[in-house]
Amino acid sequence: MSITYDYIDDYLYRIAAPRDRLLERMEEYADTNNVPIIGPLVGRFLYNLAKTSQSKKILEIGTAIGYSGIWLARAIAPLKGNLTTIDMNPERIKIARKNIADAGVDKSVRIIEGSALEILPTLKDEYDLIFLDSDKDVYPEAFKLSIPKLRKGGLFVADNALWGGEVAKGGKDKDTQSMIKFNKLVFESRALSSVIVPLRDGVLVSVKE
Ligand code: DHB
Ligand code: MG
Repeated sequence: MSITYDYIDDYLYRIAAPRDRLLERMEEYADTNNVPIIGPLVGRFLYNLAKTSQSKKILEIGTAIGYSGIWLARAIAPLKGNLTTIDMNPERIKIARKNIADAGVDKSVRIIEGSALEILPTLKDEYDLIFLDSDKDVYPEAFKLSIPKLRKGGLFVADNALWGGEVAKGGKDKDTQSMIKFNKLVFESRALSSVIVPLRDGVLVSVKE
């Protein structure tokens, strides 16, 4: 289910600036192959958040085909920033690697293959921005493990925070319950200033106090 009005969405997508051929091809690929990418509106939102925060070190949990990673890597390119992105699906990573190379940002992107919950505790760096868009059942644990890796004043951003509206209806399935638990954890955290922007499927944006 959608949390927005179709005619509003149509308008937002219609006025959005055109993407380059690569991003447009990735959008078509995602559409055809049912890969849940963030799309051009959230892509632009992430790009603007990364730019205005002057982020240099970004951590992404959930690479998929590299679409969000390309938006983020491009946003931080002028500051010579770098992106670390984690995914556990080897086929998707192969596609992501090619897309990221085609975008010309492969020098500033490190892809780590494996389970985010296992990899996060091993990361030594502090990040300016962390973007969570993994499988929904790991959101609560990924959140708990991510926040210590975020610098003060840094941004924690999560896709699908409204989960098709199911979180507001109290849906009982596993993913919805996980997203309800996740939002509760985030909003109960006094270390964060948080808001969910109802764009596409809900984008949570938190600043670490
Ligand atoms: C779905 C959507 C997403 O944006 C995502 O990251 C994962 C799953 C979905 O609609 O199933
Ligand atoms: Mg998503």
